[in-house]
Amino acid sequence: MSFKLKKGKKKVHLIVGARPNFMKMAPLYKEFTKYDKEFDVKLIHTGQHYDERMSKFFFDDLQMPKPDEYLEVGSGTHGQQTAKIMERYEEVLLKDKPDLIIVAGDVNSTSACAIDAVKLHIPVAHLEAGLRSFARSMPEEINRILTDAISDYLLTPSTDGDENLLAEGVPKEKIFFVGNIMIDSLMQYQDRAKRSDILNRINIDPTQDYALITLHRPSNVDNKNGLLTILNAFEEISRSINLIFPIHPRTTKQIQAFDLEDKVKKMKNLHLIPPVGYYDFLKLQMDAKFILTDSGGIQEESTYFGVPCLTLRPNTERPITITEGTNILVKLNTNDIINEAQKILSGNIKKGSIPKYWDGNTAKRIVEIFRVK
Ligand code: UD1
Ligand code: UDP
Repeated sequence: MSFKLKKGKKKVHLIVGARPNFMKMAPLYKEFTKYDKEFDVKLIHTGQHYDERMSKFFFDDLQMPKPDEYLEVGSGTHGQQTAKIMERYEEVLLKDKPDLIIVAGDVNSTSACAIDAVKLHIPVAHLEAGLRSFARSMPEEINRILTDAISDYLLTPSTDGDENLLAEGVPKEKIFFVGNIMIDSLMQYQDRAKRSDILNRINIDPTQDYALITLHRPSNVDNKNGLLTILNAFEEISRSINLIFPIHPRTTKQIQAFDLEDKVKKMKNLHLIPPVGYYDFLKLQMDAKFILTDSGGIQEESTYFGVPCLTLRPNTERPITITEGTNILVKLNTNDIINEAQKILSGNIKKGSIPKYWDGNTAKRIVEIFRVK
């Protein structure tokens, strides 16, 4: 281990910034606060996501307190956003001097805060370490590689993560297979989610089948041809089944920029809705006939629910959702997307199982690592 944590009460920063961070940090926050004689935990929100529906909704649903620090960085180019996070979080670090920071996933807030801390010789733990898509064209892959390279504790969700890190020469003492922390939140709130009345609120007859859609990868939505390829497939699939599409702000912006609003409005069975809160989204996932997505986390949650997932990407950093779960990769091609959806509609459904340590106890395993024995 490159750093030994000091004995005695430790100050820990948990970093959140974007939507997929909240459901990963909430269980950890709750677990650390059970040991308040051993840890002084602070929640730091960079403000990378700031709309109510991309941030506050999750603090409410996941029963998290207001962040101790809110850095208000907002949107920008990668350089602008990363620089702002680094500048503002460094000030917090210099003032607060934590003994450990924990970052999650692969967003810009993850790598920016990790770089800040490591240069001040503050130990960094990376939650969801070791995942690799092996596609450096994705900004998230760069964030994963950077963060793993400088972190002291690499907390992996699945054993492919351990294998990737070992292959990159990371010493095995730094790697901890702790499991998938998103599943801690999912298991905690799935009963509450079952009671969500989201289908009524969006006027969908709950006895009818629907497919659930999310889309936000730059490679899918930031160029008009790519986005049209996907929308054309949705148009065809919506002739057979209702489609519910809680739309990410990046995608809303791009549909407007490419003048595709009319095309989308004309699809009578495509129900475009603003992003929804955590309980509502879990409900939409568990009751869906299938899911069409390019999200990272939704590949995992659908595997847990046993709901078929068509991932509209050429690769995934979460291969276990394919080898063990219900996930299938689909190329960016209108016919391929339609064909895979039709297979499901005609009853050809991929079955899966739940991977090891996706069991609701990941936060416990993590906090044990940092407790002084
Ligand atoms: C970010 C992450 C991505 C993650 C996704 C989860 C990076 C590089 N990308 O992508 O890995 O899968 O979050 O949702 O960190 N916007 C709003 N309101 C908000 C937030 C964003 O309107 O609250 C709009 C802005 O126009 C912004 C655009 O969405 O420019 C993109 O936001 P950004 O945080 O840069 O990237 P995401 O696409 O959200
Ligand atoms: N999610 C949500 N409401 C939505 C869309 C997604 O609560 O309208 C949740 C989803 O259940 C999962 C997480 O957001 O827990 C995934 O985040 P996202 O797809 O934005 O990011 P990624 O995982 O691709 O980085």
